[in-house]
Amino acid sequence: MARTIKSQTVEQLGGGHSVLVRQRIEHAAMDRLMDQYYALTDLAERERILREIIQLVFSHAFAEETVLWPVLRRNTPDGERLTARVEEEHQRINDLTADIQRLDPQDPEREEKVRQVFALIRQDIRDEEDELLPRLQDALGPVRLRRLGVAWRAVRVSAPTHPHPAVPRRPPGNALLGVPLSAYDRFQDAVGPSVRMAGGKRRLLFLIGLLGAVGAAVVGRRR
Ligand SMILES: [Fe+2]
Ligand SMILES: [Fe+2]
Repeated sequence: MARTIKSQTVEQLGGGHSVLVRQRIEHAAMDRLMDQYYALTDLAERERILREIIQLVFSHAFAEETVLWPVLRRNTPDGERLTARVEEEHQRINDLTADIQRLDPQDPEREEKVRQVFALIRQDIRDEEDELLPRLQDALGPVRLRRLGVAWRAVRVSAPTHPHPAVPRRPPGNALLGVPLSAYDRFQDAVGPSVRMAGGKRRLLFLIGLLGAVGAAVVGRRR
């Protein structure tokens, strides 16, 4: 019988490497960072926390779309309906965050969009912990949950860290278009958004990312 993963022990969730435990840890980190954002008054500090939230949320969601939701669709009768709902949430988070990144930090419209995106992230966490992940727990045993945890983490570390609303939410399109962009995203995270890359460097990063995309597509199909 499916029940929320929020209140279960690590052992009940399949151990420390289980995808359910890894998901819950990152959801708690998102929650803490969003609280921290609201508690801060210094604009520069708020922006730093907002960047951290965006990087965490987008790599986390990309790995879900690539590795977890296809497994849920293959193994549960209502997986299609459940994953369509969170994919819709992820799309709205992408659209809103792209708007936030375009607007000036002092713009009140931007603050309203931040509030909306945080509410959506919290809704997404509840849907996953209370519905999708318990279904995954029912459908797979602890061994497969741990294997899935390893695959999810492998894709997550090479996933895009910024919104890309035009990239599809499902494999193979998301991996083939999204992972090449992750090299560019991670470069921007390292050096700051004001630095522009020369065409040659951008092509090289695209190529590295494309290799990662093929790897992510293979990992996603094998689960
Ligand atoms: Fe999640
Ligand atoms: Fe999600």
